[in-house]
Amino acid sequence: MEENKKITNPSLENNTEEKQENELRPRKLDEYFGQTKVKENMKVYIEAAKKRKEPLDHVLLYGPPGLGKTTLANIIANEMNSNLKITSGPAIEKTGDLAALLTGLSQFDVLFIDEIHRLNKNVEEILYPALEDFNLDIIIGKGPTAKSIRLNLPKFTLIGATTRAGSLTTPLRDRFGIVERLELYNIEDLSVIVKRSANILNIEIDDEAAIEIARRSRGTPRIANRLLKRVRDYASILGDGEITLEIAKISLNKLEIDDIGLDAIDKKILDTLINKYNGRPVGIDTLATTLGEEVATIEDVYEPYLIQIGFISRTTRGRIALPAAYKHLGIKISE
Ligand SMILES: Nc1ncnc2c1ncn2[C@@H]1O[C@H](COP(=O)(O)OP(=O)(O)OP(=O)(O)O)[C@@H](O)[C@H]1O
Ligand SMILES: [Mg+2]
Repeated sequence: MEENKKITNPSLENNTEEKQENELRPRKLDEYFGQTKVKENMKVYIEAAKKRKEPLDHVLLYGPPGLGKTTLANIIANEMNSNLKITSGPAIEKTGDLAALLTGLSQFDVLFIDEIHRLNKNVEEILYPALEDFNLDIIIGKGPTAKSIRLNLPKFTLIGATTRAGSLTTPLRDRFGIVERLELYNIEDLSVIVKRSANILNIEIDDEAAIEIARRSRGTPRIANRLLKRVRDYASILGDGEITLEIAKISLNKLEIDDIGLDAIDKKILDTLINKYNGRPVGIDTLATTLGEEVATIEDVYEPYLIQIGFISRTTRGRIALPAAYKHLGIKISE
């Protein structure tokens, strides 16, 4: 199979974190664990598109960070035997930038726009006809002599990724034929991902240790891979390098990640809701100010897991901590 040709955002290219992430990225749908529903759907759409000898319909992937949107975009391009071009919403500043990208595409190419909710309005408007009819309308000149010319674009597939589907405009969202939401992973799937990554990184790890890391990874493969690397460091100092359950537990405790994966900021969120505001509903803006965090960070990074495990709830009047959170922290619910 032809290797994907990539135009990567230069700021990402030099980033070692990004490079390390790439080496752990599965390349095929079959190596992409979990997300069964999304995977089954994508298999059907990809097979059908190939059979019709047409490009895949445009795909929107959304869900919390680190769940595998970028990975899946790579896999989709691979499975379609297509070239992948990568960019991001904020990197496309002017309509001309997008026009250059689009006219540089070949038939069946996959264009991946990460953080697609951050496209600016003018750029977005150029994208509509491109997505709908593979046309590009460009305006030449200024004032009364300005002319609009229409270019035909090759048939391509856009894959958009976002952590905030709610921030997408309706006309943009409506132009995606395939919309898939990625969910937090269960412990079993995460432990398989941990073992796969350990194998690639030549790390020896016990099954129970892989489960322990998975249990504390808040449903997120990126966190699981990060914890695996940190635990490996401890394993090489504390033992002979093999990650046993005991070593995993010691290291994760040292990293101040509790037995269900909560870190210091999660604890601060719960403490604010339970102690500072005495269990009353707290608005997201108030919560963000109290914690000194961005609203988006709380909503995208912290809340999804806390909601999933039934620790907090979003009500119309604000966020509240639920009984499970009180129990986990050993706090009595005051009447
Ligand atoms: N289903 C999976 N199976 C195996 N590994 C996975 C899977 N999903 C994600 N990963 C791993 O998790 C890491 C993070 O995934 P990825 O970068 O695709 O997340 P993302 O959803 O694009 O995050 P962001 O919103 O921050 O861009 C990757 O390095 C990849 O190795
Ligand atoms: Mg990504």
